[in-house]
Amino acid sequence: MKILVVGGGGREHAIAGALARNTKTEIFSVMANRNPGIDAIAKKVLLCRETETSRIVAFAKETGADYAFIGPEAPLEAGVVDSLEGAGIPSVGPTRAAARLETDKGFCRDLMAQEAIPGCPRYRTFDSADEAAGFIENHDGDLVVKPVGLTGGKGVRIMGEQVDRAEAIAYVRSLDGKAVIEERLLGEEFTLQAFVDGTHLVPMPLVQDHKRAFEGDVGPNTGGMGSYSLPDHMLPFVTQADYKKAIGIMKSAVAAMERKGQSYKGVLYGQFMNTAQGPKVIEFNARFGDPEAMNVLSLLTSDLSEIVYRITEGTLSPSHAEFAPQATVCKYLVPEGYPDSPHAGDPITMGEHPDALLYYANVEKAGSRLVTRTSRTLAFVGIGDTLEEAERGAESAASAVSGRVRHRRDIGTRELLERRTAHMKELR
Ligand code: AMP
Ligand code: GLY
Repeated sequence: MKILVVGGGGREHAIAGALARNTKTEIFSVMANRNPGIDAIAKKVLLCRETETSRIVAFAKETGADYAFIGPEAPLEAGVVDSLEGAGIPSVGPTRAAARLETDKGFCRDLMAQEAIPGCPRYRTFDSADEAAGFIENHDGDLVVKPVGLTGGKGVRIMGEQVDRAEAIAYVRSLDGKAVIEERLLGEEFTLQAFVDGTHLVPMPLVQDHKRAFEGDVGPNTGGMGSYSLPDHMLPFVTQADYKKAIGIMKSAVAAMERKGQSYKGVLYGQFMNTAQGPKVIEFNARFGDPEAMNVLSLLTSDLSEIVYRITEGTLSPSHAEFAPQATVCKYLVPEGYPDSPHAGDPITMGEHPDALLYYANVEKAGSRLVTRTSRTLAFVGIGDTLEEAERGAESAASAVSGRVRHRRDIGTRELLERRTAHMKELR
């Protein structure tokens, strides 16, 4: 079967790679920049902006694609699934209306409140700069200010940690008041991704991402510097009871969308804060996480092409998505200065990476050389029977790269995991 993959990052390289493990599947790609990894897998590539839905649909028809798999959120918001399905091409990814679970933070919170879905923090949505500013002015304690729309994971401001009251007010004014303001949650974050076919939800291993740019979780928020998962597909600071609650929250969200007549299919990504009171929803995403897709897809032993077919048919069950009982550690290399003032155009040289999978992201091939661009460059995923083994594989590959790139050495280390587990114990 022919599958069109939309998107050109590390996540989409992992998606294309997993689809292509079925030797009968032919991959086609639409991406903004030529990702060398996807380029090597795809039979044909269209270079175009991922939000140009009419060009994407035309390319899908021209190549005879049977299905499409949408990687990033921007094309979902642009309605690419609506257009592809209008042209008879079933897609993995929600329609524009169903993708509002991610693309409109006010919609997401209101849905959780109206449907009494557990795990919703106290929140208020605003539409006026004066009202939002007045609310912050008169509020005691910490707050989180979030623009309602997409920000690539970089739009949140935490008052009490990153900004003070005056800065929070200035920020919400810069958004024209179009924001969700909510309580600040304290705890440990985890990612739960699931395949969803409209009614059935099949979970994938838990992953923890690292948003902050620098070691020790300091510096600005990024798209994600790396992530890890454990052989039992759980995390030590998430109990079975927490896990069941998180799954229940995701299932309730899917059921609520169905009741609204906006059936959700694709990948649902739940970003949770595990608090003293259990898991709370930081946000839902309407797609795989990047980097988290690289962790779980590197472990997937089932046929992703069949999962695509089953998601679009509505016949997915847990037996269709099985994962190897191993640990993964993903480390992203990013350009110097990333994310605030990334330096692009630098050649990098890769060393040996015998014990890690390589996923390309925002990097160009210029002859035999690789040249950085402004976003995350490439990632290594180590896999092992233990976290230590997986971490060693990823770390030795990442540190063998030379050029103006850097990575976080602490991701996937036992020390970091123990710090997080101790933090959770302290909260409880
Ligand atoms: P988002 O753009 O929603 O993924 O948020 C980016 C980051 O901001 C998250 O990974 C959290 O670390 C933090 N964050 C978002 N919402 C909250 C909240 N209500 N309380 C504490 N931290 C939050
Ligand atoms: N890793 C976070 C995201 O993809 O949104």
